[in-house]
Amino acid sequence: MKTQEQVFAGQEADQWFLRNKNVINAKSKENDICYNIIRQSLSKKQIRSVLELGCSNGYRLNFLKEVFSNDTKFVGCDVSKLAVEDGIKRYGLELCCSSLADFSYSEQFDLVIVNFVLHWIDRELLYNCIAKIDSFLKCQNSFLLLGDFYPYVPHKRRYHHCEQEKIYTYKLDYKNFFLASNCYQVLQEYIYNTDKTEKLDGNNRAGVVLLEKNDNFFIEL
Ligand SMILES: C[S@@+](CC[C@H](N)C(=O)[O-])C[C@H]1O[C@@H](n2cnc3c(N)ncnc32)[C@H](O)[C@@H]1O
Repeated sequence: MKTQEQVFAGQEADQWFLRNKNVINAKSKENDICYNIIRQSLSKKQIRSVLELGCSNGYRLNFLKEVFSNDTKFVGCDVSKLAVEDGIKRYGLELCCSSLADFSYSEQFDLVIVNFVLHWIDRELLYNCIAKIDSFLKCQNSFLLLGDFYPYVPHKRRYHHCEQEKIYTYKLDYKNFFLASNCYQVLQEYIYNTDKTEKLDGNNRAGVVLLEKNDNFFIEL
């Protein structure tokens, strides 16, 4: 039997991109919550390098080019080959086709973005991925923008696009993994509906949080 990671990497990541390509290409930065939080909260001086993990075709990295200085480095990774090929061609970005668990890079970054990716991650690889994300951030004065479903009660749901495989999405408040280390603090948090209904219930509730990472958040006794 295939693992959840193999199913997503093997077929579903490309299928997701093909299903959503038109929506992605029609996105505007004005409506992108992650873009707006970053633009309002972080300055050109603070951010010289940005990594987006699970970046699809890198549309958000492309939006952010105008927010930071010309010499800012932008790097992205996604497990969908089609999304990565599209982003390289469309935006000329440095994108790598890799799963989060396998991705490696020679430098650390000032800002790492992970939006709506962790709910897809195989639970066997979750701590590995959390550690990976942490390792890509500089130890002092770096920032993590984390977005995902934000239900009142943590839960898993069968992934209906791949009914022949038994795979799930896992919805919970992922910022707690980082806060538990005491190396991260919340700078901003925004909670919203993923659909147009007015009622904010457990199924459509999502959150984006901007965390600052710093190994000086400890008091010395
Ligand atoms: C729901 S989409 C979100 C895309 C983008 N982050 C955004 O905010 O629009 C999830 C993305 O994560 C990618 N992805 C899923 N599992 C991944 C993994 N294990 N490693 C890297 N990328 C992954 C998918 O291919 C897809 O592009």
